[in-house]
Amino acid sequence: MKNGMKNKKIVLGICGGIAAYKSVELLRLLVKQGGDVRVMMTKNACSFIGPLTFQALSGHAVCFTLFDHSEDASIRHIDWAREADVVIIAPATANMVGKLANGVADDALSTFILAVTSPVCICPSMNTHMYESKPVQRNLNVLKNDGCFIIEPGAGELACGTTGPGRLPEPEEIVDRVFSCLSKKDLSGKNVLVTAGPTRESIDPVRFISNPSTGKMGYAVARAAEHRGAEVTLIAGPTSLPSPVNINVIKIGSAIEMAEAVYEHAGKSHIIIKTAAVSDYRPLVQAEHKIKKTKDELVLKMEKTDDILKELGKRKNNQVLVGFAAETRELERHAAEKLKEKNLDIIVGNLIGTSSSGFGSDTNVVTLFYRNGKKEAIPEMEKEEVAHIILDRVMEL
Ligand code: CTP
Repeated sequence: MKNGMKNKKIVLGICGGIAAYKSVELLRLLVKQGGDVRVMMTKNACSFIGPLTFQALSGHAVCFTLFDHSEDASIRHIDWAREADVVIIAPATANMVGKLANGVADDALSTFILAVTSPVCICPSMNTHMYESKPVQRNLNVLKNDGCFIIEPGAGELACGTTGPGRLPEPEEIVDRVFSCLSKKDLSGKNVLVTAGPTRESIDPVRFISNPSTGKMGYAVARAAEHRGAEVTLIAGPTSLPSPVNINVIKIGSAIEMAEAVYEHAGKSHIIIKTAAVSDYRPLVQAEHKIKKTKDELVLKMEKTDDILKELGKRKNNQVLVGFAAETRELERHAAEKLKEKNLDIIVGNLIGTSSSGFGSDTNVVTLFYRNGKKEAIPEMEKEEVAHIILDRVMEL
């Protein structure tokens, strides 16, 4: 989300691990999100990467010693601790994890952390055996119990040659986890089911009918719900988007597969948000072999697919049901009809065809239509922001 960190004062702590090179990109992303980021490095971190890079990207001098005072002679590590909205330590080495778990304050970063009152996100990154060792796991548990937010390392091939957990997550994922750490948890205890993306209806083994949906809106809704504490199941058609963290992602191909997956999960969902662009028709027969171009004309006979949302509307029992309506004209009339016909609580309508709205764009211009006939026009904004507004309205219902 652009500007998601606007006006946030962030301290990025960097320890001496090979993953320190990823902290450069992390800093860049945080700044791009509007964050005012200050960097604190350990002495060992400076052996891996030069502080000048962080100074240039953050626009602030980097702090590495306890005796490094600001111009006004105030004490920098205490000032930064007082002002911080969130602290991120990435990478956090085994040594730093051990020091923080035990209250050791022998350098600028470990001393600073003791003075911090804001949320602290720790991204441990090290050799797999070190990460899995009893002391490191014990120390991470202590930090969790102390209220730190541990961002688990990813698994894969590490720089040291071993394969397993220990890899610093990609910067995008760290930023996503920081958003989660900072979000209100008003959806905790709620099961949220989201559908996203297009469906593909096979004509023959090498061809299909589909639509240009990229899944961005649905993925944004799923991520926003997860950030706000919900248990999220995301049923997604083919998209190129990475699977979001901590979400049960079920990939499907056709409308039939989407229907089966949705019906299986709908019963236990408190909130269902159907952003998917489901094919309304599928070829009546799917050819077993590739259709050859032997004729001048080809007529495809199609049959209707299940209207999944309409079926959910019939089965609805104490659930909040949100649909989407993408229209090229007469948005209000079509949206109102669909709201009624499918027994929805909210329908999110958008007029497709402009670059700031609809398929593939990062922003959306939508109008929310409610059961009581009221409507609410939302100005152009990022799909993540639209997602949060939809969830806000769902919670108000
Ligand atoms: N939908 C669905 N199953 C379908 C078709 C649509 O669940 N087979 C859902 C979509 O996920 C969306 C809502 O119904 O939330 C409206 O989809 P839309 O394509 O705008 O409308 P349709 O009902 O398909 O009507 P039409 O294509 O005639 O506009």
